[in-house]
Amino acid sequence: MVSWTGFSKKIPAERWDHLEKNQIISKEGLQRLTQQNLLPLTTANQMAENVIGRLALPLSLAPDFLVNGEVYHLPMVTEEPSVVAAASYAAKLIKRSGGFTAAVHQRQMIGQIALTGLVDHEKARQTILKQEDELLAAANAAHPSIVKRGGGAREIKVEINEKFLIVYLSIDTQEAMGANIVNTMMEAITPNLEQLTGGQSLMAILSNYATNSLVTAQCAVDLRYLSRNKKEAQILAQKIELASELAQVDPYRASTHNKGIFNGIDALVIATGNDWRAIEAGAHAYAAATGSYRGLSQWIFDREANQIIGSLTLPMPIATKGGSIGLNPSVQLAFDLLENPDAKTLAGLVVSLGLAQNFAALKALVGSGIQAGHMKLQAKSLALLAGATDQQVPQMVSQLLQEKHMNLEVAQKILKNLD
Ligand code: HMG
Repeated sequence: MVSWTGFSKKIPAERWDHLEKNQIISKEGLQRLTQQNLLPLTTANQMAENVIGRLALPLSLAPDFLVNGEVYHLPMVTEEPSVVAAASYAAKLIKRSGGFTAAVHQRQMIGQIALTGLVDHEKARQTILKQEDELLAAANAAHPSIVKRGGGAREIKVEINEKFLIVYLSIDTQEAMGANIVNTMMEAITPNLEQLTGGQSLMAILSNYATNSLVTAQCAVDLRYLSRNKKEAQILAQKIELASELAQVDPYRASTHNKGIFNGIDALVIATGNDWRAIEAGAHAYAAATGSYRGLSQWIFDREANQIIGSLTLPMPIATKGGSIGLNPSVQLAFDLLENPDAKTLAGLVVSLGLAQNFAALKALVGSGIQAGHMKLQAKSLALLAGATDQQVPQMVSQLLQEKHMNLEVAQKILKNLD
């Protein structure tokens, strides 16, 4: 078993050694990691328009996530101090308590076509549903390669709205997020739908509200890991349960609660080259599925088992193929660290990380307060920004934390006095 104790205290080159010695990264992956230029400008220029450069962000590793009985080390891309520390901390406690279970309910994408100008919506709906097999065949004929790989169009649903008849097509996109596959199929069946109904298509497009790609992660944390003091641990567990309830009833809190979840989710989604805007949009729509915006996770204090039990469900249409995934060498490096999971496994990891992140934030919020841990790491960022060396950082941090106001000017003053 690999020991991660002290990993956070190492410098990056020592962390590379640790990854190499423990065979957590391939030789090729290590080369990529140690190269300074991870995304060639020529590749960047193929990924977006009007490219003039690249913007670098820290790539971190949150080790030791036990998910469905396997250990994973999660690459995270984030600019925010304390996010990776919090994820690592939560992963440790959750592993000791038995780890995460992650379940992928289904993995299909949804496309929609909105038809207008119809006189009899119900009649048009019936006509479409009668032709479901033919429409699915037409959709599949437009993208035969996904059918060859075992995917393809699966089901048609039709909803009547005051002005629109909306046709939804569910598609198994296998390892891809599938925007191109879905949009190609939707556009291919548009003329058939117009002919069948006499209506006109307003648009045909993938929906990011990926309700056919729901994933649930669950975990438990033994009370003894909340605090060594039994009474204190019980109070913390009660408060985490209450914090979860608060996020169900107050949208102001729900938004921040979910932001905390996305601190983790976005970091892994970005590291794996996925479309985080799509995943955020789908998850926020899901958070409002009942008509009011709610926290995406729930925590319950199981007083008999002496555990706090967490659960998080959201749409997770994450991909391991397609888009810029194969183009960006840093993204390939992230997949290397993850040991090249398939899309369903990756979806489970992403949601588990979201739950871990949420646990750490809630524990801090209802315990010592968010500032204690956050400020410690904020102080480290300020120290580095002021120009402190690795050796000077610890002393700078402890001095900064004693200051009433912590900012760059104060950090620079402290650094000057250290010299
Ligand atoms: P602590 O108890 O002071 O940590 O917590 P520790 O120094 O005792 O270390 C415990 C473990 O945490 C370490 O074990 C590491 O795993 C990890 P070790 O390696 O020592 O055996 N850890 C670190 N990992 C990497 N680098 C580090 C580091 N420090 C500890 N420098 C901790 C400190 C930050 C973990 C805790 O205070 C915490 O979890 N705070 C929550 C921080 C957080 O959620 N930040 C996100 C930004 S705030 C936000 O945007 C979201 C929010 O608004 C969401 C919401 O409202 O719900 C809060």
